[in-house]
Amino acid sequence: MKTITAALLLCAASQSYAAKPAPYEAKDYSSLTAYGIFSSTMLENHFKLYRGYVTNTNALLERLDALEREGKAGSQEYGELKRRFGWEFNGMRLHELYFGNLGPSPLPSGSKLRAALAAQHGSFETWQESFLALPKVRGIGWAALVYDRPSGRLFNVWINEHDSGVPAGAEVVLVMDLFEHAFITDYQLDKAAYARAFWAAIDWGEAEKRFLGK
Ligand SMILES: [Fe+2]
Repeated sequence: MKTITAALLLCAASQSYAAKPAPYEAKDYSSLTAYGIFSSTMLENHFKLYRGYVTNTNALLERLDALEREGKAGSQEYGELKRRFGWEFNGMRLHELYFGNLGPSPLPSGSKLRAALAAQHGSFETWQESFLALPKVRGIGWAALVYDRPSGRLFNVWINEHDSGVPAGAEVVLVMDLFEHAFITDYQLDKAAYARAFWAAIDWGEAEKRFLGK
């Protein structure tokens, strides 16, 4: 009987293991150094920080999984790690979206994103002015253009740290890192200069694809 029970447990464990998703893998954005947008030192440091978020997201998921298997899902540790998950995960994903929308390319001709921004703000330039006011927010976080697809509305939002301020379900179309590590090496405290450099380096083709859901 013990042998059968052990075999069943082993079988259940192996099934569970087989269904376990692969850990997240850090993506390679080293090609951005070739554009000369920011110094290699600042970018390399930024990539290192990003890889830390990937590592910590995986570690957090592993620990939460272990606690669940140990029947400790109601523990204080489990609760605190659950609170932490959105912060680490968004730290990873927002960096991917940020690096992914760098690499200068113009808005495609006939851009639907441009037309939507112009329609909702009066003109593209009015929207631009509003977006570029976000770096003036004091504190650390992200400036983002997000799309509420069900309503068709676009919003400029401030994301506090990584995990507060994104309307539920909204999709990130464009995002600018406003943690100090994103600019201080090259621009010291001049966030406005950093924002101008970011603006000149936007990959609008990528933003257009995100808006179109491609
Ligand atoms: Fe960052």
